[in-house]
Amino acid sequence: MIGDITAGDWLMLIVRWIHAIGAVVWVGGSFFFAFVLRPVERSYPELVRPLIRSIGPVYRDLVDTSVISIIVSGLILMFDRLTGNDASPAWFIVFGVKLALAIWMFYLVWRFRQSDFDPAHAPTGVSARMSWLIGYNAIVFVGVIVFLLASLMRVLYEVTIAA
Ligand code: HEM
Repeated sequence: MIGDITAGDWLMLIVRWIHAIGAVVWVGGSFFFAFVLRPVERSYPELVRPLIRSIGPVYRDLVDTSVISIIVSGLILMFDRLTGNDASPAWFIVFGVKLALAIWMFYLVWRFRQSDFDPAHAPTGVSARMSWLIGYNAIVFVGVIVFLLASLMRVLYEVTIAA
């Protein structure tokens, strides 16, 4: 019954919701950038490059807000699990991998900012393939894996509390 949900549970629900929305906005935004804007830019560079330059600062603020909400809510979720005594060794292993990938994603954003990417001088050849690893494609790729690991953590937690 909905009346059985405690104030603490409601709070954790809000935190989980913020975490999930932050993740959806960040990975979804990167998806749009990598698989819609960039391909269209390749076909119509003169048309799309000025648009990407205008979108840049707004998109950057959106990513900053998402990353901050993901980190703050993620840490709260982590402490909730750690103090609940229901985190199994398997949960910890998956969580460790998820955390490492999340840190890589944060690093990618930081690296991307440092490189001051200018689409007019986009890398080619080997450096283009390298930039795949540090660009939005990588954030999308790692992001969807992190989503999968988060679902696995949820299942592992439910299996532990049902046992
Ligand atoms: C500081 C980094 C992070 C920490 C400490 C963290 C921690 C957590 C924890 C403890 C959970 C709950 C898992 C469970 O149900 O047992 C969770 C769920 C989740 N995390 Fe993270 N996370 C982080 C970063 C990320 C990132 C970067 C993404 C994706 C871009 C992400 C996506 C998710 C999703 C989708 C869920 C499931 C939420 C739900 O159940 O509705 N997390 N996270």
